[in-house]
Amino acid sequence: MKVAVLGAAGGIGQPLSMILKNSLPAGSKLGLYDVAPFTPGVAVDLSHIPTDVEVQGFTGEDLPKALEGADVVVIPAGVARKPGMTRDDLFNINAGIIANLVRNCARVCPKACICIITNPVNSTVPLAAEVLKAEGVYDKHRLFGVSALDVLRSETFLAAELGISNQRILVPVIGGHSGTTIIPLLSKVIGHEKIAADRIKALTDRIQNAGTEVVEAKAGAGSATLSMATAGARFALKVVKGLMGEPGVNEYAYVEGGSKVAPFFAQAVRFGKNGWDEVIDYGTVSDFEQKLIDEAAPQLATNIKKGVDFAQKWLSENK
Ligand SMILES: NC(=O)c1ccc[n+]([C@@H]2O[C@H](COP(=O)([O-])OP(=O)(O)OC[C@H]3O[C@@H](n4cnc5c(N)ncnc54)[C@H](O)[C@@H]3O)[C@@H](O)[C@H]2O)c1
Repeated sequence: MKVAVLGAAGGIGQPLSMILKNSLPAGSKLGLYDVAPFTPGVAVDLSHIPTDVEVQGFTGEDLPKALEGADVVVIPAGVARKPGMTRDDLFNINAGIIANLVRNCARVCPKACICIITNPVNSTVPLAAEVLKAEGVYDKHRLFGVSALDVLRSETFLAAELGISNQRILVPVIGGHSGTTIIPLLSKVIGHEKIAADRIKALTDRIQNAGTEVVEAKAGAGSATLSMATAGARFALKVVKGLMGEPGVNEYAYVEGGSKVAPFFAQAVRFGKNGWDEVIDYGTVSDFEQKLIDEAAPQLATNIKKGVDFAQKWLSENK
């Protein structure tokens, strides 16, 4: 297996690459790319860790070398939030970066599974789909928005609320990956009946605003990096397991299809040899959660349109 990380020298990219170096199956390759000129040095650093994963680092014009033969591409390239910014505020800079990187993926590794971390995920993923369509290689089963950090956060907060181990908790998080589009289904958590309605609302608010909690705590130095690297690596490793034919591997991801709420929707997917092969229905939800879903639908539609509109304009200007 080869995994390429684009944006590999950044706050997320470096720890994400480190976890992959330590956790990918023996014989795998890791291709790192970042516009930061020291990226080959990040690869040299990682190459001293004694695992059977070969690491190469590239910068400048060498993006195709990082992508060559990639089965999975993970993209945390772009700019991160500062206090007072929403994920949507990042759109103008990050959209152009994603369009360009995804076009390169289409041309160099058209069959790769692309996992987009770069925000705003609600828009960058539909944007990427348009670029892949224009290149004639789009397969919705191979494109993912990484929303898994919302699941990790929910697991942590709910385990603390219930006073149980993090290892024993499972929290579905559906919808999208920004503000009120993040919908944790706390009614599915074993033991949720012990939590009062006002606490359910407070926990939901905290999960929806957990990214902002980090942005404010870091006071201008960026957004979630270490927790995101953990979530991104957990996600990429599951994609790899699916590609290698391991059965029963699931995770939440923002993908196209499988939802009546919006064309792109974060939901549980099952991984297979060709990307995700099935969306797992989240079943019945509480009235509170249904209201959140109903409110998220128009927001998601707006975010998706923003990505698609950008892609159309970018494609007409960048033939
Ligand atoms: N999906 C999520 O849950 C989630 C969580 C946290 C952050 N994020 C997003 O991840 C992105 C990265 O965050 P970060 O904290 O690592 O930021 P960062 O600024 O520390 O790192 C970004 C890296 O991208 C690189 N880069 C910029 N343009 C590039 C290009 N064209 N090609 C290759 N590399 C390029 C930069 O040089 C930098 O090293 C942001 O958009 C952030 O909002 C997503």
